Amino acid sequence: MSRLAVITGAGSGIGAAIARELQARGYDVVPTDVDLSSAEETAATCDAPGAYRLDVTDAVDVVRTLEEITARHGPVSVVVCNAGVSRMRRFLDISPEELGRTLDVNLRGVFLTGQAAARMMVRAGAGGCIVNVASMAGKQGRVPFLADYVASKFGVVGLTQAMAVELAEHNIRVNSVCPGYVVTPMQERELTWEAELRGTTPEAVRELYVADTPLARLEQPADVARAVAFLVSEDAAFVTGESLAVNGGAFMD
Ligand SMILES: NC(=O)c1ccc[n+]([C@@H]2O[C@H](COP(=O)([O-])OP(=O)(O)OC[C@H]3O[C@@H](n4cnc5c(N)ncnc54)[C@H](O)[C@@H]3O)[C@@H](O)[C@H]2O)c1
Repeated sequence: MSRLAVITGAGSGIGAAIARELQARGYDVVPTDVDLSSAEETAATCDAPGAYRLDVTDAVDVVRTLEEITARHGPVSVVVCNAGVSRMRRFLDISPEELGRTLDVNLRGVFLTGQAAARMMVRAGAGGCIVNVASMAGKQGRVPFLADYVASKFGVVGLTQAMAVELAEHNIRVNSVCPGYVVTPMQERELTWEAELRGTTPEAVRELYVADTPLARLEQPADVARAVAFLVSEDAAFVTGESLAVNGGAFMD
């Protein structure tokens, strides 16, 4: 079976860590991102055969780029739908445009990427694995200032189950990971927004995140990446439709 893995939003944070982790485990990884130069930077750290600009909100771009990757590098066996955005606002203040943007990237983007990837995998007839990066905010709404994000990530958890059911007959497994408080550029932005909204400092908010985590530290991108590596491995051969909590115990269901 091919060992080619495509990752969206791989120019930063969790996506870049997933690329490095899968490469360390013997995959040829192809980082993609809406920001090509960041995908290229990740590619340089994981000996990737190429890096591509891929905007997950653009249905045509998603199909074209995945087909180009297949034509150049061979059949894709793993796709990680990681690209996501957040903007902290009070529920009462979120505009229709902001709601649309969040749902477009975080939910529609996962749908479009997963559908295009699955169609290619079905055509190739060799099965495959899809992992969606959801969030602990995809399983609990007790998350302040992220109502649109919560809605998008609950959507990803449900979508993961629906895809897993329909794609099982094609030997395609579909799972999600649900990270907690991960140290990434997204978190840096959220610390500033949350501090403003709470009338405190980013450092104080960071301490709240640690205090909320039984394992008593912030999560690292590599913590998420190792869970993704497990889900795409043979160790998880009978796991599908799962949304795996990877959050140091910050939320248990
Ligand atoms: N950081 C956390 O605490 C945390 C927790 C739970 C879940 N997540 C999820 O993990 C994923 C990665 O988050 P991160 O913290 O690494 O964020 P990040 O902002 O560091 O990286 C996100 C990447 O996605 C890319 N991106 C944005 N819009 C895109 C689009 N339309 N098409 C393709 N790429 C696009 C960005 O350019 C960026 O490189 C997201 O889905 C996020 O919701 C993050």
